[in-house]
Amino acid sequence: MNETLDITITKTEQSRLTVTDFSKLPFGKVFSDHMFIAEYEDGTWKNLQVLPYGPIPMSPAISALHYGQAIFEGMKAYRQPNDTVSVFRADKNFERFNKSATRMAMPSIPEDIFMQGIAALIDIDKNWVPNQDGYSLYIRPVMFATDPYLGVKASDKYTFCLLTTPTGPYYSKALKVKIETEYTRADEGGVGFAKTAGNYARSLFPFAEATKAGFDQLIWTDAVSHEFIEEAGTANLIFVIDGKLVTPSVRSTVLDGVTRDTIIKLAKHAGIEVEERRVSVKEVIEGIENGRLTDAFAAGTAATVTPIGEIGYEGKLYTLTDPATRTVSAGIAKTLNDIRYGLAPDEFGWNFIL
Ligand code: COI
Repeated sequence: MNETLDITITKTEQSRLTVTDFSKLPFGKVFSDHMFIAEYEDGTWKNLQVLPYGPIPMSPAISALHYGQAIFEGMKAYRQPNDTVSVFRADKNFERFNKSATRMAMPSIPEDIFMQGIAALIDIDKNWVPNQDGYSLYIRPVMFATDPYLGVKASDKYTFCLLTTPTGPYYSKALKVKIETEYTRADEGGVGFAKTAGNYARSLFPFAEATKAGFDQLIWTDAVSHEFIEEAGTANLIFVIDGKLVTPSVRSTVLDGVTRDTIIKLAKHAGIEVEERRVSVKEVIEGIENGRLTDAFAAGTAATVTPIGEIGYEGKLYTLTDPATRTVSAGIAKTLNDIRYGLAPDEFGWNFIL
């Protein structure tokens, strides 16, 4: 049993709860009353505190701003029928956070700080966990380098912060996606598997170009041949081909998604065959044309399970099966949600009840 950490709690004098419209919750714009912060200095984490959400004073020289040592995570807390709150698979996000930290030459965060920080923050902001169907409290852990030093080296100081934002699904409709073959998201030996800020920064220009052309999101292909599908940047990708769940295997260029992993486990449990392997663009396009590809969706914490409706490739638009008729992804999404919201038995032990 881990010891209880000493976390200083400072409560806000003016809660924003009563002036927040829970029927309008665009992703990531409304923050709960408090945040959790810990600071790393001289080789140890200290100054653990829950305090009112707000600006953090910092030097413009902090190395995160100049050299990009910044990592984050995303997970969700769900209100349960008995009014307790459950955080879904927080252990997996914790593990991945530290994998990202190692790759970015940052210190690990100890498990008790990560978990007790979440528990302390949600305890104080429990009323921010929505109770509408499809809504949850998104938890955003972030760590960034704070040395005010312009030399290029790993920072000696860091801030770890937990923010929470009540939210609905990231996407509100079936996606029209473009298979990107000019720009790339990640390459072998790089940082594609890490949840680090720069991966998102490099996607923004191609994303903006795709948006101008009428697309909602990109499907990234491998940086060497552009023949293989990798992920969507905000989510992993899963296809149903010949009745099997087919998804690009996790590699150094693909984020090891928690929702992806959850869906694979649920599908196998339900007796659906799963193939984790390289998936070629050709296979997907031919599958749409010959009817063997019957379902396709983005899977992520923010994205949840979002159907892909249309795929653009080399100037041509391919329309997939009507999302309303898709039984595989709809079934998986329902099972997943029932577990998260405590409406079905949590046979895998995924819910961390606070
Ligand atoms: C998440 O699903 O939590 C993510 O981090 C995706 C986000 C960049 C919108």
